[in-house]
Amino acid sequence: MSKIFNCTNHSIEIPNIVSCEGIYLLDGKGKRYMDLESGVWCTSLGHGNVRINSTIKKQIETFMHAGFCYSGDIVENAADSVLSVTGFENGNCVFLCSGSEAIELARQISKHVTGKKQSMTLHDSYLGSYSSVTDRKRNWYIFNWEACMGCPHQDHCDIGCEKLKDIPGDISDFIFEPGSSSGFVRFPPKALIQNIVAIVRSQGGKVIANEVTTGTGRTGKWFGYDHYQIKPDMVAIGKGIGNGYPVSVTAINEETVRELKKGTFRYMQSHQNDPLGAAIVKEVITIIKDEDLIPKAEIKGKRFFEMLASLKDKRLITDVRGRGLMFAVEVCDEGTGDRLFKELIARGYIVGNRKTFFRIDPPLTVQEKDFYAFTNEFRSLINHTQTP
Ligand SMILES: Cc1ncc(COP(=O)(O)O)c(C=O)c1O
Repeated sequence: MSKIFNCTNHSIEIPNIVSCEGIYLLDGKGKRYMDLESGVWCTSLGHGNVRINSTIKKQIETFMHAGFCYSGDIVENAADSVLSVTGFENGNCVFLCSGSEAIELARQISKHVTGKKQSMTLHDSYLGSYSSVTDRKRNWYIFNWEACMGCPHQDHCDIGCEKLKDIPGDISDFIFEPGSSSGFVRFPPKALIQNIVAIVRSQGGKVIANEVTTGTGRTGKWFGYDHYQIKPDMVAIGKGIGNGYPVSVTAINEETVRELKKGTFRYMQSHQNDPLGAAIVKEVITIIKDEDLIPKAEIKGKRFFEMLASLKDKRLITDVRGRGLMFAVEVCDEGTGDRLFKELIARGYIVGNRKTFFRIDPPLTVQEKDFYAFTNEFRSLINHTQTP
């Protein structure tokens, strides 16, 4: 009987994982499972990455934790790396442990520097597990962009549009998750987001990019907001930046740092700017650069999208969406989704199953031949599955 309480409402599908190898997880009987969800979008460079493992070993033997009154080159160099990829060269970073924390800190900073109370986000954005972002009854303005999806003017969204006029004047922060979260892979129109950013900024509000899932190269660019030609004030980064180790970062631009330094801002957390997490972040960024993984993700993404799109039939697979190496495969109903998911696991393939769709977010290091093998297996499974 397991002594682990699983708070996610998801059942444990493979109870005896014992080891890993690249994009595979192995169970106690030696069966290999191709992990096409990268854990929970975390192992951006695959499981057991040799360079990451040796960075961890080296850092553990040096020091893991010092406390927030003590810093050093490890953390400073990691901050430089993050700031260089976010384009916030003269900004600052705070290293934390989870995506939820990186978003929470950015929100608290916005409230502090703007003196405003209300946060804003899109109706389908997931922003972490804290009640401050899940309970959106007070001090939240939720922008429902459902109607904008079919809007004939979406490419030329007018700043005078009635929907945009409803945005209140006291927004402290617009938290934008560029990939319509939880794996749905739906992209709000670029012009709409540019207009929201302009409105919120004109009122003195801040723009926070939630890059917990869409960052670290996932969409074929360093960050999801790069597809929108906007510059956020803060970027919350998590998951893939630690390759499975729990580290996250809030990157803050120069102007916001300057504003922060004028007052007294306090955010206490024991594992703030820990050297172990920082060393891993630096190494993840270095590997991505050394191995040119971002342009490769863009190219592979296009090929993989074609492979997945070829599975679309009018029967079981109803839609396929993707950007970079982030894909969603819609199935006709929940029961079919569940059956296909379990059968894929039995055949050694792990994808994310969310009711009527699958999330497919392989490591950036995935090879074309692996993805080809997966889509072939998936096709044969679909062909042998009865219509409900
Ligand atoms: C879009 C998005 N934002 C934030 C989070 C929260 O990250 P974490 O689970 O590391 O706290 C998640 C986690 O799934 C996420 O998908």
